[in-house]
Amino acid sequence: MTETTNPAPPAADADWWRSAVVYQVYVRSFADADGDGVGDLRGIRERLPYLRDLGVDALWLTPFYTSPQVDAGYDVADYRDVDPLFGTLTDFDAMITDAHALGLRIIVDLVPNHTSSAHPWFQAALAAGPGSPERELYLFADGKGEHGELPPNDWESIFGGPAWTRLPDGQWYLHLFDPAQPDLNWRHPRVRAEFEGVLRFWLDRGVDGFRIDVAHGMIKAEGLPDVGFSSMTTGQRQSELLGKGRLPYFDQDEVHEIYRAWRPILDSYPGGRMAVAEAWAETPQRLARYIGPDELHQAFSFDFLDATWSADSFRKVIDTALAESTIVGAPTTWVLSNHDRQRHVTRYGDGEIGLRRARAAALLMLALPGCAYVYQGEELGLPEVLDLPDELRQDPAFLRTGESRDGCRVPIPWSGELAPYGFGPEGSELSWLPAPATWRALSVAAQTGVAGSTLELYRAALRIRHEHPALAGTTGGVTWLEGGPGMLAFSRTGGGTTLTCVVNISGAPALVEGYGRPLAASEDLTEQGSGHLLAVDAAAWFERR
Ligand code: GLC
Repeated sequence: MTETTNPAPPAADADWWRSAVVYQVYVRSFADADGDGVGDLRGIRERLPYLRDLGVDALWLTPFYTSPQVDAGYDVADYRDVDPLFGTLTDFDAMITDAHALGLRIIVDLVPNHTSSAHPWFQAALAAGPGSPERELYLFADGKGEHGELPPNDWESIFGGPAWTRLPDGQWYLHLFDPAQPDLNWRHPRVRAEFEGVLRFWLDRGVDGFRIDVAHGMIKAEGLPDVGFSSMTTGQRQSELLGKGRLPYFDQDEVHEIYRAWRPILDSYPGGRMAVAEAWAETPQRLARYIGPDELHQAFSFDFLDATWSADSFRKVIDTALAESTIVGAPTTWVLSNHDRQRHVTRYGDGEIGLRRARAAALLMLALPGCAYVYQGEELGLPEVLDLPDELRQDPAFLRTGESRDGCRVPIPWSGELAPYGFGPEGSELSWLPAPATWRALSVAAQTGVAGSTLELYRAALRIRHEHPALAGTTGGVTWLEGGPGMLAFSRTGGGTTLTCVVNISGAPALVEGYGRPLAASEDLTEQGSGHLLAVDAAAWFERR
């Protein structure tokens, strides 16, 4: 029998994750309780009632572990402790206890592909020198060229530049991300044992699941073969193959052994402990290999995130994702935004058009079978902040590639007239990235109780999603309806009712009839004859009993 410090919520439904709505908390930008300008665990704890009222089932917390913060915490120096920037383990325990009492589950981020260069293992490896057992825990190699002055192969960092850094002693080490994020050697049994221990550490503290960072990356092809091209040789970045092609450092078959070893650990705890993969694979079929009864529970559908604003594009990715999930018996995992990608308001055209489309996309995503992830601030309709001054940008990729993910990481506006809009305690003016003046009107307080606000749209949609029998089913597909060119329409049935979701991407207002009474709409519906006029770039849910 396993001892749990913070037991899972009572009456736990082991299959909760199949249809859950998970809210991604980007910890440093959610709520700042201590007033240092950076969000923290106490801030999350104070805002739990907001999340319960929003109607989500679980939170995914981005890394809050001890870290030099070179890559915003995805560079972990101690996997079993909280960074003082974010609080303490006691704060974590208090937060998860309160969350469970409110019926909210907690998913934490696990970063197994690499550690921080400040991790004691890497420090020991540096000190011990070439050929030492300490170096076997990472991927150290001798260079090519007469004096080993060339990197061991042509691999590129996802953050730009070579994936190898040379040490004063002449050896090179691999880092698929920043040089401060050395890749671990997952062929070493000690690495495997360590992470199984880390899983148990957080499971014992009561976490309901893990988001697995770079889940496709841990095993590298034997012999570390060249890719064959790079930005240096052909001008094409290797990372352009992500999700489209094969790379010798990603999606190797043996990575699945790791998950087959993890699954029994998760299953040995009560209450339905789960794991979701951040994985990139060449095809939806290869992505589906990460999920199923003996591996992980979910893998984000980044094809859905990448779908362009067209009915054909959405329909294609939805059909493919649903087909794959049916084959492996796992739910599809929908996502529109996260902390690595430009916010979808901006991707869909920014400004008023982008917001309309984002609101419609929310109704689309929340009507689909499976699990949905909501990135903090999308329920407020936040756009990407495009004009952050360069000197404030902190993404390590910015210096190497000129691309930065900071614009989707700006702290959430909660209330008030002045930036950072209630992010910190009363009167605090600090926030690690500045919120634009336009966000005053987008704050939680400014939208609460306002009919037609994006926040109230999310609240209504989440409530209906929970209560409506037609949306309760977690398996099976959707029935597509012929709504005409540019119209995306599908229905789901359950409990003697049918719910139809219609999205108008046709470029002109469209008459929608025959689907019953409206339950929710992203823009006002106008009655017309026996039907309703659905505006351009709007979505609505209808119900027929
Ligand atoms: C994942 C994270 C990203 C991070 C990277 C390296 O892609 O989502 O934020 O920079 O892994 O850990």
